[in-house]
Amino acid sequence: MSAQDQLKRIAAEKALEFVPENAYIGIGTGSTVNFFIEALAESGIRIKGAVSTSKTTSNLLKQYGIPEVALNEVDELPVYIDGADEVNHSLQMIKGGGGALLAEKIVASAADKFVCIVDESKYVSRLGKFPLPVEIIPAARSLVSRKLLKFGGTPQLRIGFTTDSNHKIVDVHDMPINEPLKLEDEINRIPGVVENGLFASQPAHVLIIGRPNGAEVIKIGG
Ligand code: 5RP
Repeated sequence: MSAQDQLKRIAAEKALEFVPENAYIGIGTGSTVNFFIEALAESGIRIKGAVSTSKTTSNLLKQYGIPEVALNEVDELPVYIDGADEVNHSLQMIKGGGGALLAEKIVASAADKFVCIVDESKYVSRLGKFPLPVEIIPAARSLVSRKLLKFGGTPQLRIGFTTDSNHKIVDVHDMPINEPLKLEDEINRIPGVVENGLFASQPAHVLIIGRPNGAEVIKIGG
C-alpha cells in the first residue's frame, strides 16, 4: 500500500468513531471511502443501512454485506462520511474528482453532520489547485465551457467519462477561487450546469486528516 493510501486508511478508520449504531448513514465515493467501507464491515458496528452516492460505492457495500437504502426511504441521516479532493481551513471542499459530486451534494445535504476524511495532502489554505469539476448536460457542453472561461479558469471536458446520471463533467483548471460561496452559486446559475464540485455553502462539520503519526480531528467551532 502506498504511503498516501496508508494515510487515507488512518482517516477512514478514525471515522468509525462518528458512526452511530442502529442508524442510517450516508456514504460518499472514492478510494478513501473504500477504506472506510472496509473498516466499517470489519468493525462489527451495526447500522440500519447506508445511502450510497454511486454505483461504485453500492457495489462495494454489497460486497461487504452492508445493506443499502434509498435516500427517499430515509427520514433521518445523522451522519455522512466522504472524502474530498481539497479541503480548506473553513472545511469548504472541492469534490468530484471521482465524478460523483451530484449525488454527494444531495446526500450530504440530507445529513446532520458531514465527516470528511482525507490524507494530509488534501488539506490546503486555498482551494483551486485541484481542477474544479462541473457536471453538465451533454448538449450544453460548448455553451457552458464558454461561460466558464469568463471565470478565469481553463475548462476541459473529462474525456470518456459519463456520470451515473448520464451527464458529462468539465474540469476547470487553474480556477481562481477567491470567494468560494459566491463562485459555487454563480456557476450553478449557468443554464446547462447541473451541479459543481465546490462544497462551500455546505462545508464539512468535522474533518479527519490522516497523518503519519495518527489522525487529526478538526471540528468547526472547535
Ligand atoms: C468523488 C469525490 C471524492 O471524495 C474525491 O474525489 C476524493 O477521492 P479519493 O478519496 O479517491 O482521493 O469527490 O466524487
